[in-house]
Amino acid sequence: MDLNDIPLHRDSGTPLHEQLATALRAAMEEGRLPTGSRLPASRDLARSLGVNRGTVQKAYAALVAAGEARAAVGQGTFVAGTGGLAVGILPPPQTAEDPDWERLARWSDRPGVISLAGGMPDARLFPVAPFRESLDAVLAEEGTGLLQYGPSRGHGRFLEVLASRLRERGLDRQAEQLLVVSGSQQGLDLVARVFISPGDAVVVEDPTYSGALALFRMMGARLLPVPVDDHGMVVEHLESLLTRERPRLVYTIPNFHNPTGVTMAPSRRKRLLEICAAAGVPVVEDDSDGELAFDEAPPEPLAAGAGKGGVIYLGTSSKLLFPGLRLGWVAADSQVIRTLEAVKRVADLHTPPLLQAAMANFMMTKACRELVTAVRASYGNRRDALLESLGEEMPAGVSWSKPRGGLSLMVDLPAHISTTDLLSRAVGEGVVFAPGNLFAARRGADHRLRLTYGGVREDEIREGMVRLGRAVRAELNGADQRRFTGKAISPPPLV
Ligand SMILES: Cc1ncc(COP(=O)(O)O)c(C=O)c1O
Repeated sequence: MDLNDIPLHRDSGTPLHEQLATALRAAMEEGRLPTGSRLPASRDLARSLGVNRGTVQKAYAALVAAGEARAAVGQGTFVAGTGGLAVGILPPPQTAEDPDWERLARWSDRPGVISLAGGMPDARLFPVAPFRESLDAVLAEEGTGLLQYGPSRGHGRFLEVLASRLRERGLDRQAEQLLVVSGSQQGLDLVARVFISPGDAVVVEDPTYSGALALFRMMGARLLPVPVDDHGMVVEHLESLLTRERPRLVYTIPNFHNPTGVTMAPSRRKRLLEICAAAGVPVVEDDSDGELAFDEAPPEPLAAGAGKGGVIYLGTSSKLLFPGLRLGWVAADSQVIRTLEAVKRVADLHTPPLLQAAMANFMMTKACRELVTAVRASYGNRRDALLESLGEEMPAGVSWSKPRGGLSLMVDLPAHISTTDLLSRAVGEGVVFAPGNLFAARRGADHRLRLTYGGVREDEIREGMVRLGRAVRAELNGADQRRFTGKAISPPPLV
């Protein structure tokens, strides 16, 4: 559309930026500015309208704040759409954190570097031979049927095994309330496609899983962060938020939360379910680490306390067993499952039947039971080693969460420390972590960092913490000097 003739009235009493935002909003609603289209560069529009560039920037910022536009760094501002029938090219995905993850992966691969950055299980524990036996057994039994197209809902036997395992954890669901997905990430993606349109609000814990943040941002969702403390999501903040913002979903990781490792307290679970039920807002429970319990039996899923269908539950075989198989599941009300199944059919038809059948077989074997025991014991020992060496190596003023399961914990440094700067020093010392802003729904968590312990041996963890301790002390000294002298002392540059 031609934006050059937007009428602006200097003497109307309404600030020019508000008039401009109103005119742009009207153009979006009338379809003259379709979803995904790029707004003109602020400098160009300011010139053609004869106003200050700041006026245009303020108008754009108001649209972004309202979720009606999205700012993509270095690319411009795009119409996010507010529902309706607007069509057009899709906005570019907001993958702001991808370059950071790529960089972390590159540093982690350097020889001699100890990486506590990625959240992977330890492939050295995977029992290849028993899994191959399961593959052979199901191929011998079911033959070509496993190489043919299969049902979108999932392989019958795998669904049965899942239903019985969920029942053991207190979640009583029938086959029609289950859907097999290609990892819980796909489960979350399907849920987001069904529930979220650009501009919709979604409640997330802050911090939370970076893959969920990337997905919700890509969908054009407006994130409503709720803080997490040692007892999980601080649900007291939720009630007014639900009334005020009418979000489409509440996304939570109640068991062994990624990145903090904390587990939500029973009283908060109850309150969360009550508040969301009263407001009619669906809860999405991501239980991907829920079975990785070290100190007791795995906690009940939140969904178990919600009666039938109150919560959309996501599970996965990725943390306890093998992430490469991409086997996850959704448990929800049968109507929700039917809708998610229809979307899955469009996305990828189905998850490979051979892998589902082999996993169903493997899950019933002694080798699987032994693996689960070994994984829990091994990661539990690594968690202990990490907590112990943090205690030995970290200076005063540094604190950390104490998970009872899962794969990660969060370290809090004094607020004036930037873990992005610290990372440069740490890489120089030969240790890598994930800076907290990768998990932050709202910027400003730069003094936090995540450490994962699943894929690292205990001796590596101890040595990693010696190196991190050195980097933290140097960063604290540098930051103190900066504060007292006003001089910038940069950490060593990274190449
Ligand atoms: C909290 C959480 N949810 C979901 C996923 C995705 O896992 P997958 O798709 O392998 O099941 C991860 C992986 O790290 C995770 O940490």
